[in-house]
Amino acid sequence: EKQLKGRDLLTLADYTSEEIQFILDLAINQKNDRSNGIIDQPLKGKTLGMIFEKSSTRTRVSFEAGIYQLGGTGLFLSSKDIQLGRGEPISDTAKVLSGYLDGIMIRTFSQQIVEELAENASIPVINGLTDVYHPCQVLADLQTVLESKGKLAGLKIAYIGDGNNMANSLMIGAAKMGMDVSIAAPEGYQPSLDVTQKANAIAQDSKVVITDDPAEAVKGADVIYTDVWASMGQESEQAKREVAFKGYQVNRALLDKANPEALFMHCLPAHRGEEVTAEVIDGNQSVVFSQAENRLHAQKALMTALMG
Ligand code: CP
Ligand code: NVA
Repeated sequence: EKQLKGRDLLTLADYTSEEIQFILDLAINQKNDRSNGIIDQPLKGKTLGMIFEKSSTRTRVSFEAGIYQLGGTGLFLSSKDIQLGRGEPISDTAKVLSGYLDGIMIRTFSQQIVEELAENASIPVINGLTDVYHPCQVLADLQTVLESKGKLAGLKIAYIGDGNNMANSLMIGAAKMGMDVSIAAPEGYQPSLDVTQKANAIAQDSKVVITDDPAEAVKGADVIYTDVWASMGQESEQAKREVAFKGYQVNRALLDKANPEALFMHCLPAHRGEEVTAEVIDGNQSVVFSQAENRLHAQKALMTALMG
């Protein structure tokens, strides 16, 4: 806990497996306390600024409700409204906000923006999604798998679809926690060599596999994960991507090739009939709404650890 105070979360690659486990355990404890009516407000009087350069339902609401439940306040800062959107440098924004706030969450395009914000801020900076990583989602996902399966190490997760921010973050998070991870994506849409090498370097007793074959990826998998084919910022590529990802839909036939008790996961928002069928996402192996709820709990634990 001591080592997390004051830290940033830019990518889970910067955290040890013990630190990740600490956050997951705290999340499960705080969730349990809350359901038992125990009110704990370790961030009383603290303020989190939340900068959004992209849309959000889950990230915005879970951070804002989360900081409130911890006794603090959240400020929604749309880049359309703050001077950042009119060209004020990120470094000046970081220094100014550091004088008012106790933490900043940012959702933006490039990972470099988040890094620059963190370098220039004297308070913790949390990555709420970039084009490259979505670490808060993976904390909630790991919590969900842990709650459902009772363990992480030794399990296998298969990600089917675009080698995007979710694929990247899942590779890193799974490798950290000793899970095997297979990514099935068509050529041209596979995770970058850079992130793949990072994940490989992290993985010790587990395997990181990149393939273009969904059936191979889901073989022996305990978790099947997918995400949209066109992420925020890629809307104009929708038609092209629907062609490229044909054959990468998670449907009953693909799910049946995984382990019988496999979980279906999706960070949401989802497109039924594209990356996943309604039958699967609304079926009894799906845990998508537990994942969504756990954004609240995982991020409350994260904020408690970094800002407490
Ligand atoms: N999964 C996720 O980050 O959702 P939002 O885009 O709604 O925040
Ligand atoms: N890959 C998606 C995730 C949304 C939570 C995107 O970046 O739009």
